[in-house]
Amino acid sequence: MTGDSLTLSQQISTPESSDFLTDVIAGLSSNPRALPCKYFYDERGAALFQKICDLPEYYITRTEIDILDRNRADIASHLGPDIELIGLGTGAGTKTRILIEALERPAVYIPVDISEKQLRESTVLFRKIFPDLEILPVCADYLQPVVLPSSSRKATRNIVYFPGSTIGNFESTEALEFLRRIANFSCRGGGLLIGVDLKKDQRVLEAAYNDSADVTAQFNLNLLERVNRELAADFDLDQWRHLAIYNSSAGRIEMHLISEIDQFVHLDEQKFHIRRGEKIITEFSYKYAPEEFAALAGKAGFEFVRMWSDDARLFGVLYFTCSRDR
Ligand code: AVJ
Repeated sequence: MTGDSLTLSQQISTPESSDFLTDVIAGLSSNPRALPCKYFYDERGAALFQKICDLPEYYITRTEIDILDRNRADIASHLGPDIELIGLGTGAGTKTRILIEALERPAVYIPVDISEKQLRESTVLFRKIFPDLEILPVCADYLQPVVLPSSSRKATRNIVYFPGSTIGNFESTEALEFLRRIANFSCRGGGLLIGVDLKKDQRVLEAAYNDSADVTAQFNLNLLERVNRELAADFDLDQWRHLAIYNSSAGRIEMHLISEIDQFVHLDEQKFHIRRGEKIITEFSYKYAPEEFAALAGKAGFEFVRMWSDDARLFGVLYFTCSRDR
């Protein structure tokens, strides 16, 4: 597959690997040790995450897709005709496809994703299914300021679509800052459609991150394998164990890797001494009550319009508008 035939060559460039080394060293040196969860998604990690989405315990993806499916017409009428849709972290594009199919004459679609392979493949697919839609893929870490390509088409408004409850990966101050940046795209009558995982029974939450097939454990451990592969570190994978717990006072799932023994890890001429039982935090996944999230988005300049949910209120798809100027 050549980039040219897809006209992706200019738009797709992969985030720097030197950032990875810097981030890993900083993370292993911090107290508590922590690695950024965005690094889960190398090719193998993205494939493992796809498997997670199909696990019986992992209700998140299934529920969100179901909510979109059942409410597609209503959601589409809220978003309106002739829009420019900016998808953040849309991955393989399953949800976005449902959304775009329901939209009235969508003008432009800009998927922004860190996983190059998925972005490429979904772009090829979407160009086939939606021949009238202009698609401008951007391979980028959307946690960094991203310059979006400009379209020659005229859209009525910009709508940012941020599915998957990925917003849950942010701590509240970061989430607010991120929502403020999104508001700059959505301002002057645009909107934000966002998937948010809701607070619920701790057992349901913990089961979703400690699946019986151990796929989440593999996904978590793959981060260390990736550090070994790409940065020539020497993590001994047999000496690390996956742990996911719900921290109810903070309202978040915490994914950890626990060191089973007292050990040394070598990386870029540095040596890290890690004691038995010590953890590396690999992910926070915040859960929100709907009004909690609406209040947060409100601080960022959004007006809550409505939420679509499932009968058990496991997950929420929330729609906000933004009327202010930049
Ligand atoms: C992609 C951030 C929504 O927090 O549920 C799944 C990632 N981590 N299992 C989540 C994840 C472990 C996921 N998000």
